[in-house]
Amino acid sequence: MSRKHIVAGNWKMNNTQAETTALISDLTQKEKTSNAEVIIAPTSINLYTAVSQLEGSSIQVAAQNMHQAENGAYTGEISASMLKDVGIQTVILGHSERRAYFYENDTLLAQKVNTALSHGLRIIFCFGEELDDRKNGKHFDIVESQLKNAIFHLTSDQWSQIILAYEPVWAIGTGETASPEQAQEMHAFIRKTVSESYDVTTANNVSILYGGSVKPANAKEIFSKPDVDGGLIGGAALKADDFFAIVNAF
Ligand code: 13P
Repeated sequence: MSRKHIVAGNWKMNNTQAETTALISDLTQKEKTSNAEVIIAPTSINLYTAVSQLEGSSIQVAAQNMHQAENGAYTGEISASMLKDVGIQTVILGHSERRAYFYENDTLLAQKVNTALSHGLRIIFCFGEELDDRKNGKHFDIVESQLKNAIFHLTSDQWSQIILAYEPVWAIGTGETASPEQAQEMHAFIRKTVSESYDVTTANNVSILYGGSVKPANAKEIFSKPDVDGGLIGGAALKADDFFAIVNAF
């Protein structure tokens, strides 16, 4: 089993260039006592600044989104090759905010996944059920279909470039986190689903992150679960102390 612990900060639409530089400067002064790989995802206009500032640091930079086309008349969009060109190696795809506010569906996400992989980008693939799905007992079915429709067409070799991020929509930005038991139950289900569609090795090697109101106070308990390999952190990633308290919760 060679999967990694990963803690990634999704900054969403926060931080000017000056704030980005200041937060990164704070982050680089923190001591890392855990074995977790650390990733930050600033907004696209600040990616180049972040990559430049973090040259030589172990903190990696990811993009929050990417267009599926190679290039062309897609006003306002950013391509995989543009991300690579500024030194980005990882892209977040499928975040629930992109699904909800920008109408990204499984078919589109499958295209984005293919494009990202063809450019050698690693993907943090997000998915998760809404509150009604959970109340109606459909959360396992929803998660399984999100995975099957957008990434289960990949070969097992391509899975080395995939990081999964289970983010129940009802836990994002709400202060309500899934209990460590709920996270473990879903992560174990996800790993079983990968194992059944691929093989045990692929399932054991993929890092599955939990996202949704992870804070310094709850990170340790969530990360203690055997199938939780890290976190995708929103609000708490905007403060260096909180983010590193979470990184060091492993
Ligand atoms: P919060 O940590 O603010 O709930 O956000 C989680 C998230 O959406 C990370 O991608």
